[in-house]
Amino acid sequence: MSRVPDKLGFDFVQTNGHVQYVWRNGKWSDDAELQASPYVRVHIAATALHYGQSVFEGLKAFRCRDGRVRVFRPDRNAARMAESAERLMMPVVPTDVFIAAIERCIRANADFIPSYEHGGSLYIRPILFGSGARVPPEPADEYTFIVYVVPVGDYYAGTSAVTALVVRDADRAAPLGVGHVKAAGNYAASMESTLSSKKKGYPLSLYLDPLHHKYIDEFSTSNFVAIDANGHYVTPESRTVLPSITNASLMQLCADMGIPVERRQIAIEEVARFAEVAACGTAVVLSPVNRIVTDADVISIGTLTIGPIMKRLYDRLKAIQRGDEPDPFGWMHVV
Ligand code: PLP
Ligand code: COI
Repeated sequence: MSRVPDKLGFDFVQTNGHVQYVWRNGKWSDDAELQASPYVRVHIAATALHYGQSVFEGLKAFRCRDGRVRVFRPDRNAARMAESAERLMMPVVPTDVFIAAIERCIRANADFIPSYEHGGSLYIRPILFGSGARVPPEPADEYTFIVYVVPVGDYYAGTSAVTALVVRDADRAAPLGVGHVKAAGNYAASMESTLSSKKKGYPLSLYLDPLHHKYIDEFSTSNFVAIDANGHYVTPESRTVLPSITNASLMQLCADMGIPVERRQIAIEEVARFAEVAACGTAVVLSPVNRIVTDADVISIGTLTIGPIMKRLYDRLKAIQRGDEPDPFGWMHVV
């Protein structure tokens, strides 16, 4: 019996439980029990609490047209979590452990996966943090890896375009910092500016490169993508942006669909010349952006609905994820 709430947004839902592994004495625990309680016991001196030794991932499982459950590119999230872990001096969760944990958590919560007809998905949140005690700021000797899931709908309510405010008084990343990995602290660092933008009426905050404050980096929870006047897909090349798996997949679709791709520095003034702009990521999928506010200007782009080229890309991506079309790239992992 389905236990998916009627109305789905992007909030915590108590499910049948999560899976939890512990790394001690140089190795991961062999197997993980399903834990029903959403609480974890951690040491008061855990490095995650004091020093932010904590990383996470986000990916989605879909109930497909044929009734089977498939996860979008979990190997890519495993690889990215490994990069994040190495940067923060944490043990890597091997890809087979990462995928086994996801499969186990999904199977245990099959009644929380939105139906194909519903259109929602099961959001999978793997987290890895230093749970061992350490008073000086040094790596812990114990780590916890958890995977929990929540049924989700749209990240932004409604399907119409959202507006973005260019953040001028804060950076989400430092030039040689950790912006390119999914460190928990990156999100704490951008909460003040993103909440301030939201209060002013802008759901999205757009950050500039932290060295020159001249080029577009990304939004707080998604990559910046655009279609220029020549119909090219344009996205920033930057060391301080999180390498989005959605963006990489869209670029692969562009190659397949004959849409030229440009990865390069994008000066903020250039947005005025773009035909379509969107935010892309697991949670936001491909959300159109129709207004960007800079210090100097209010730049309007396109209409309230998704632009024509982004629409083609969105439809193709969703069709592969939902099993409406073949998956020529082998992206979908059957559970
Ligand atoms: N950029 C940031 C800062 C994010 O938090 C995310 C979300 O994971 C993305 C980009 C998009 O990445 P992905 O497409 O892998 O979800
Ligand atoms: C995701 O899209 O999976 C993210 O992690 C972004 C955000 C919800 C934190």
